[in-house]
Amino acid sequence: MRQYNKMVLVGMPGSGKSTLGKRVARLLNVPFFDLDHEIENRDGTKIPEIFAAHGEDYFRELETKTLVELLHRDESFVLSTGGGAPCFNGNMDLINQLAVSVYLDVPMSELLFRLIKGQAGKRPLFAQMNEEEVRLKLLDMYQQRSVFYRMARITLSGKDISAEQLAV
Ligand code: S3P
Repeated sequence: MRQYNKMVLVGMPGSGKSTLGKRVARLLNVPFFDLDHEIENRDGTKIPEIFAAHGEDYFRELETKTLVELLHRDESFVLSTGGGAPCFNGNMDLINQLAVSVYLDVPMSELLFRLIKGQAGKRPLFAQMNEEEVRLKLLDMYQQRSVFYRMARITLSGKDISAEQLAV
């Protein structure tokens, strides 16, 4: 049976999964997928609208379905996931069965800086929040999610993680 090389990036919102994933895929010369974009393409709706119209549980179902489909593709690829994707429905176990998982462990202060700088508005889980609320939400998420992120096969720590570290 042909072996495929599948790499899945996991980590908190703002950790740079999509930016790094695109670069690594280019260096490895394999397709890049962004789970959130794949969900939007399948549903024909943007993520904030899916949350607003149907709520988080519906989003998590769609997210898991799309992730499972992607993981079973007969091809090599790099996939960046949304921050919550590995933390629901046993998804991290499946990721580890079918791919090499990589956790981008970015310091909380840097995540907060990036989210405050302007990315929070695009993320429904941080919508309409002030700086202090974003900080508390991030901490809460991290406490609940780090157990899943730490199941990743590889952990890259720091705020300046380079594509070259993964594309060897
Ligand atoms: C989410 C993170 C988002 C997106 C959705 C939910 C989360 O992706 O999947 O808004 O639960 O942390 P990013 O990690 O790219 O922000």
